[in-house]
Amino acid sequence: MTINATVKEAGFQPASRISSIGVSEILKIGARAAAMKREGKPVIILGAGEPDFDTPEHVKQAASDAIHRGETKYTALDGTPELKKAIREKFQRENGLAYELDEITVATGAKQILFNAMMASLDPGDEVIIPTPYWTSYSDIVHICEGKPVLIACDASSGFRLTAEKLEAAITPRTRWVLLNSPSNPSGAAYSAADYRPLLEVLLRHPHVWLLVDDMYEHIVYDGFRFVTPAQLEPGLKNRTLTVNGVSKAYAMTGWRIGYAGGPRELIKAMAVVQSQATSCPSSISQAASVAALNGPQDFLKERTESFQRRRDLVVNGLNAIDGLDCRVPEGAFYTFSGCAGVLGKVTPSGKRIKTDTDFCAYLLEDAHVAVVPGSAFGLSPFFRISYATSEADEGRSFPFKTSAAYRH
Ligand SMILES: Cc1ncc(COP(=O)(O)O)c(C=O)c1O
Repeated sequence: MTINATVKEAGFQPASRISSIGVSEILKIGARAAAMKREGKPVIILGAGEPDFDTPEHVKQAASDAIHRGETKYTALDGTPELKKAIREKFQRENGLAYELDEITVATGAKQILFNAMMASLDPGDEVIIPTPYWTSYSDIVHICEGKPVLIACDASSGFRLTAEKLEAAITPRTRWVLLNSPSNPSGAAYSAADYRPLLEVLLRHPHVWLLVDDMYEHIVYDGFRFVTPAQLEPGLKNRTLTVNGVSKAYAMTGWRIGYAGGPRELIKAMAVVQSQATSCPSSISQAASVAALNGPQDFLKERTESFQRRRDLVVNGLNAIDGLDCRVPEGAFYTFSGCAGVLGKVTPSGKRIKTDTDFCAYLLEDAHVAVVPGSAFGLSPFFRISYATSEADEGRSFPFKTSAAYRH
């Protein structure tokens, strides 16, 4: 008998570090909605987290110019000097934050920034505090990096914000990070200076805990809300804060894949080690485009935000006019996170009882042809998220809520 004959072919076994992570609910819903569209059903997708606007012309032009100048090779590992300088200016101009170039890192999207940071800092079992509802990637990234997400429910009564009491109670000697996101995906809730202050006081008392803030939706805030970021508010925390941002949402550049962060030099260096063996540098062309986005005119951001605000009002008013739904007015981002406790227990026209927010979203998709995402995907039920970064024409047509009487009691 040869040795080969004794070796049995084994099926694929996923590594334990990813075994608890399933395909995201958002992707599943997106796939189902796309399949329905292919069948000719007029599905409106309010699930995707990307602006319907196009990347600005001057940004596209900068990319084209970079290609024609021959900037098509590897760049410095974690960002070209030009882009790092543009980011340094941005932090200074918009956030009053002074970072040296070696305190700045650039990656293939803010998602990679988060991944690099967790990979570079977590040992197995290290705890990461994540308020819910949260952007699903936070806990999945922590899992992949063998850390332990510590989820803290922050419901509508606290404006979906973490409180100092809850934060204090969650900190243990194993806590490495707290992840905060303002304005938030999925709730749209944002932290004002007054909301942040008590949390920062708690962190000042726990010097072993680092703070990662995800400011991705910084520019999309409404009703004169004043955006602030913790390292600016509390310089005493700057040496253990990673301030994350990117061009995806503000400049409608989701496909260009550029995210960046400012933080303590030693952390930034360790993140570059991770990146060096994952993706090397981000795309040279996208980096040139991002320089143009950050250094170029910013006035269109205001116009786009005004457009988002009109859509927010349309959606929030529509939702709150419906029996059984309850939507808090978000301060920013382009999401509503509406409560749907009042529809649980009801029966759809096709005879299905709605027991959970997932059932409710399935009903909206199958019967009303509207794709939205259940709160369970973001760690808080019973809620559902609408992304209103889609065109007003689509939203107007899609309002299944006008026919809310369609489900029976
Ligand atoms: C809160 C938040 N942070 C980060 C990202 C990732 O952005 P990027 O496209 O830069 O990876 C997203 C994308 O949906 C997000 O919602």
